[in-house]
Amino acid sequence: CADGKRMWFQFKMLIVLLAVTTIGVFLTASNTGWIELKMSGSCWCEKCFSEENVFLNQHLNRSIEPFLSATTSLTEDEYDWWRHLQSNRHNFSYFKETIDKLFKIISPTPVLEKPKTEGCRTCAVVGNSVNLKGSHYGPLIDFQDIVIRINRGPTKGFEEDVGARTTHRVMYPESGSILDNSTHLVMVLNPAFMKYVHQKWLGKKGKYPSTGFMTLISALHICDEVHAFGFGADSNGSWSHYWQPMKSKKFKTGPHPGKQEYAAIDKLADENTIYFYKGN
Ligand SMILES: *[C@@H]1O[C@H](CO)[C@@H](O)[C@H](O)[C@H]1NC(C)=O
Ligand SMILES: *[C@@H]1O[C@H](CO)[C@@H](O)[C@H](O)[C@H]1NC(C)=O
Ligand SMILES: *[C@@H]1O[C@H](CO)[C@@H](O)[C@H](O)[C@H]1NC(C)=O
Ligand SMILES: *[C@@H]1O[C@H](CO)[C@@H](O)[C@H](O)[C@H]1NC(C)=O
Repeated sequence: CADGKRMWFQFKMLIVLLAVTTIGVFLTASNTGWIELKMSGSCWCEKCFSEENVFLNQHLNRSIEPFLSATTSLTEDEYDWWRHLQSNRHNFSYFKETIDKLFKIISPTPVLEKPKTEGCRTCAVVGNSVNLKGSHYGPLIDFQDIVIRINRGPTKGFEEDVGARTTHRVMYPESGSILDNSTHLVMVLNPAFMKYVHQKWLGKKGKYPSTGFMTLISALHICDEVHAFGFGADSNGSWSHYWQPMKSKKFKTGPHPGKQEYAAIDKLADENTIYFYKGN
């Protein structure tokens, strides 16, 4: 455990060098049956992505890997785009060295669990919207093979509405310290993926995409069937989190282009590319 703590500390040091927009995806240690990241063209779900998903096909580029691996080749151009969002502006060779060190501590290839149904990996992406309150989505969320939560999004005390399982957590490294000791870091988001989501999916609106939106798009890359929960406001227009008391209707999404993101999610739902649960 002391070893684990030291590694975690080292990791945090590295992540600080990689700076604020680097995202860690966390995975519980108890999972079994790791398999490789999904490749395209192998979907056996009842309903798979097809040419009917026009909006998806206009935007999805499968050659962009969502997560960094030891073999990801990041171009200097991609690095430069990402670097401008950072407070800590190291050069490209320094970044590459840091990544090499990082993959000595964490798994050099991303891992995901085996789906219940061969060839059909289903994913629940659980946002943090207050519209989850009283939704009773818990069992439906827990039923999916992969349950991805965002930032600190708690489950304890909210199981009926948000479920109890978490297989992955996508978050800013600052939130890492609130995780329990059964959660391990396995993936780090590819800066090139963030650039692609910003340019291709959001038409360069805003400064960079929100964690929730990037998570949803990465789910389109790694899952055969995507169920999205907890995105957008509730029916009263509140943008609070489900675990917080209600805030006023006025909101700011800061550097994130909230409107474009929500419009894109709506479009994906309209074309039945994703299952979109709007809650209360
Ligand atoms: C997909 O991304 C790759 C790598 O950035 C690029 O070379 C290719 O042109 C892109 N394809 C489309 C259809 O945009
Ligand atoms: C990159 O940064 C490192 C450490 O800050 C420095 O030692 C190295 O000389 C720099 N390399 C280039 C090509 O500027
Ligand atoms: C994790 O934390 C729990 C409760 O704090 C403790 O009982 C358990 O022994 C810890 N497990 C490890 C592997 O450190
Ligand atoms: C919306 O506001 C009304 C009046 O304040 C309240 O009764 C209702 O429960 C709210 N709906 C939701 C989904 O929070």
